[in-house]
Amino acid sequence: MVVAYGTESLLMKQDVVDIHNVTVYRGTTCVFRNLSLVVQEGCNTAILGPNGSGKTTLMKLLSCELYPVANPESHVKIFGKEHWNVWELRTRLGIVSLDLQHDYLPRAKGINVILSGIYSSIDTWQHQEFNDVDFEKADAVMERLGIGALKNRAFCTLSTGQQRRFLLGRALINNPEALLLDEPTTGLDLKASFHYTEMLRLLMRSGKTVLLVTHHLHEIPPEIEKVVLIKEGRIVSDGKKTDVLTSESLSDLFDYQLQVVAVNGYYQVFPSK
Ligand SMILES: Nc1ncnc2c1ncn2[C@@H]1O[C@H](COP(=O)(O)OP(=O)(O)OP(=O)(O)O)[C@@H](O)[C@H]1O
Ligand SMILES: [Mg+2]
Repeated sequence: MVVAYGTESLLMKQDVVDIHNVTVYRGTTCVFRNLSLVVQEGCNTAILGPNGSGKTTLMKLLSCELYPVANPESHVKIFGKEHWNVWELRTRLGIVSLDLQHDYLPRAKGINVILSGIYSSIDTWQHQEFNDVDFEKADAVMERLGIGALKNRAFCTLSTGQQRRFLLGRALINNPEALLLDEPTTGLDLKASFHYTEMLRLLMRSGKTVLLVTHHLHEIPPEIEKVVLIKEGRIVSDGKKTDVLTSESLSDLFDYQLQVVAVNGYYQVFPSK
């Protein structure tokens, strides 16, 4: 928790994420040992690392899909709280992941995907009740993301980029304070990925805290302040984007000689051989 003294107001910034000294297994693989990470409210963060380094595991830890090894010396606090009712947490923390895209049944329509975010379920079910306000919220979200015309299409018949927008809409319908996005633009063409990035920029500017896992440097918008580099389950760098995104640090991260170039607040990377 940090207390920032402004000239006119006293602003309390809470930690959205506070991971301390955790060990996490997936099956018999120890992915993290003694991992610690703090992300404050409003500190938009990109997480980069090679395949298998632990990025998705980190996202699943934050969304309570995975739990660390029990230890009194460690904790995972989200919005300052350690023990969450998962459904309550999901109204405050929107999630977009590759897993979600594959989980919907062929019968699901676009509108069902959006509404399913209200109960944080996969698809909508007969026992769930939706009122007029829910439908209005769903329409407003689809309008905002430019997918209203697709609401009655079967989700499985939509293009990858259209599906990604619906999943973002699902994450946004509860108006969460923070978003966990695990490679949200994978499979999108250049225009679609830049559109997606533009949407994220608007969300960040509207005050949502974004944690973005990506392999694409050019999709890290200027609003991202902090970059975390993960290698083999260890955080090897965690700091201001301008300090972390250097040719040297990325070359070390990927064990490959890379050259990082920054243009107008955006970044791109090239092989330096
Ligand atoms: N269900 C699972 N059972 C056992 N091990 C797993 C499981 N899922 C992931 N792992 C292992 O955990 C480690 C971290 O995987 P994770 O999916 O977090 O990597 P990642 O950084 O997201 O990689 P990518 O860039 O490929 O998405 C890897 O060694 C992976 O093989
Ligand atoms: Mg992953």
